[in-house]
Amino acid sequence: MHVVILGGNSGIGAALTAHYLQQQAQVSVFSRAALADAVLPDAAPGLQQYQYQPEMLEQAQSPLHETLKTVFSQPVDLVFCCLGLLHQDQLQPEKSLRQLSAAGLRQAFEVNTILPALWLQAIWPWLSQSPQVKLCWLSAKVGSIADNQAGGWHSYRASKAALNMLVRCASIELKRSLPQATLVALHPGTTDTAMSKPFQRNLPAGQLQTPADTARRLAATVADLTPAQTGALLHWDGSVLPY
Ligand SMILES: NC(=O)c1ccc[n+]([C@@H]2O[C@H](COP(=O)([O-])OP(=O)(O)OC[C@H]3O[C@@H](n4cnc5c(N)ncnc54)[C@H](OP(=O)(O)O)[C@@H]3O)[C@@H](O)[C@H]2O)c1
Repeated sequence: MHVVILGGNSGIGAALTAHYLQQQAQVSVFSRAALADAVLPDAAPGLQQYQYQPEMLEQAQSPLHETLKTVFSQPVDLVFCCLGLLHQDQLQPEKSLRQLSAAGLRQAFEVNTILPALWLQAIWPWLSQSPQVKLCWLSAKVGSIADNQAGGWHSYRASKAALNMLVRCASIELKRSLPQATLVALHPGTTDTAMSKPFQRNLPAGQLQTPADTARRLAATVADLTPAQTGALLHWDGSVLPY
């Protein structure tokens, strides 16, 4: 099995990497910085690490595209896109419209929508060599418009909703050229990572999962994915979430 992880230093991306390496898979991981040692098994013969800078996704001549050609020359079974941003420095999820800022919206859309869309575009030319590939773009339940009863987190919710639409659009295109491939937006469930850390205090008991548990649950769900599910927004247990 060959698995590609985009955003390998994310808490969930690192756990997915460790999970698939333990399954003896070959795992190709892209991240902006070298992978943190703490998240990797001691001996990881199946691991290939690649560093990239986000602006490379926009440059037609960047070395990233040559690297992708090489990585995808060996058929790929699974791709996980784990990029995401909820808070950073001055950016905090909004509790009300008063806290909304253009800068915050731009940051959220850059990492939650634009970069995941550009990653999909970047790997697109090489997917024909992996006609049964499963593409899992990590999204969030709070990006569901129909499910939103609580409000707040305007930038994060809106940028994930936009990601869901991009996944849906691309899945329709994918179905025409590669009908056996599957592209979904996937909610991983609340997971103990740097992203959720400041917001864990009031969670109902049992809701917070370890990254390793999330990786196991996502791997089990993804193993059962079929092309009939393409374009869906899925909960980590495989059930369909409303857009
Ligand atoms: N944790 C949760 O409870 C939870 C719940 C629902 C949905 N999710 C979603 O699941 C995915 C993974 O979440 P996580 O908790 O593992 O997140 P995380 O630990 O905060 O990692 C997010 C990753 O996004 C990438 N990233 C952040 N800022 C970036 C920037 N400016 N440019 C490019 N890449 C950037 C980084 O990848 P590199 O450092 O590797 O480049 C970073 O490691 C995200 O899409 C998140 O929205 C998480």
